[in-house]
Amino acid sequence: MACHFSRRTSWPTGENRLSRAVEERRAGGLEVLDLTESNPTRAGFLYPPEIFSAPLSDPNGLIYSPLPQGLSTARAAVSDDYRHRGCSVPPENIFLTASTSEAYTFLFRLLCDPGDKVLVPAPSYPLFSYLADINDVVTDHYALRFERDSGQWRINLESVEHAIDERTRAVILVSPNNPTGSCVKRGELASLNALCAAHGISIISDEVFSEYLFPGCDNDPVSLAGNDAVLSFALGGISKTLALPQMKLAWLAANGPKDLLSGALARLEILADTYLSVNTPVQTALPLWFQKGGVVRDQIRERVQGNYQVLKRMAPFGVEVLPVEGGWSAVLRFSGARIDEAWAVALLERAGVLVHPGFFFDFPTEDFLVLSLLPPPDVFSLGLGRILEK
Ligand SMILES: Cc1ncc(COP(=O)(O)O)c(C=O)c1O
Repeated sequence: MACHFSRRTSWPTGENRLSRAVEERRAGGLEVLDLTESNPTRAGFLYPPEIFSAPLSDPNGLIYSPLPQGLSTARAAVSDDYRHRGCSVPPENIFLTASTSEAYTFLFRLLCDPGDKVLVPAPSYPLFSYLADINDVVTDHYALRFERDSGQWRINLESVEHAIDERTRAVILVSPNNPTGSCVKRGELASLNALCAAHGISIISDEVFSEYLFPGCDNDPVSLAGNDAVLSFALGGISKTLALPQMKLAWLAANGPKDLLSGALARLEILADTYLSVNTPVQTALPLWFQKGGVVRDQIRERVQGNYQVLKRMAPFGVEVLPVEGGWSAVLRFSGARIDEAWAVALLERAGVLVHPGFFFDFPTEDFLVLSLLPPPDVFSLGLGRILEK
């Protein structure tokens, strides 16, 4: 029977070469050392049940109070967490959502009409194009450039300026960025504020990895939660900050010039009221998780920083390990021409190691590979050793 599907969902649905090769290998019972694992609940961390499971049985979780922004106790806990990190965000400016993906959807619905444009960094998080398609929004890229002199990734402001046109509604920042691990610097924010204010553009800042900064980096990262120069939205969530992706709770914190902020909050309230998507037991558990849940975060910090040191130690001449300021991933650049997808497939077939090709994240050239720093140290070193041999 014929059926009409929307154009916005006409994505290629087949597997790509790499995922097909993984399926085949697993179906054949062959080993896969997964150096793309980014799910903390599968990476061997200890989640004490008295901290993570017990609060879910709080009887308050059985009471339904349909509040568009989320329970005030949960929003107060998010606000307190910002305060501990040196940022003042009143609970009234916070909206709880089921995920940052949902927060992006609310913001795209708030800011954009069909065909309007948002600017996303390249390289960065591969979900943006889907989130944009689903919301009938167009993405355009601005460049992050790795500067050899400073050893840092920087926003290429000219490329932001160049991409702005009359349909641009938001610039998206990801800080620390996935996968480059780079943070937005104060000076960059000042320039972006000026540019966005001049064009009436909002800023959306994805800060889900902000609790995972590497020590000793001169990164001085900024949270947009405190930015009132232009209409700004900082995104966070427990999938990363508390390593609880299965619990489905994130937030957006709005800030900006008073009149714009009050208009945004009023509209967001109706958007959120239409879905009321965050479940009550998780909101009830949040204050306790914030108080005690840092135990997993500490294990993750130790793991990712330890794996990164191993990576630096093991990388031979000709393999550049790019600096990481924060987050859960690392980028390798290999000298000599390579085609990243074919190369990732070859590493899987010949060495049984799964890595991400750089094109997945919109790297400008094909000589990058991306590794997750989350796998258990034995898996990480074994897989890395095999990659570096090839
Ligand atoms: C930059 C970035 N933002 C958001 C997310 C996902 O957050 P959530 O689970 O809250 O949708 C990810 C997941 O890897 C990410 O890399």
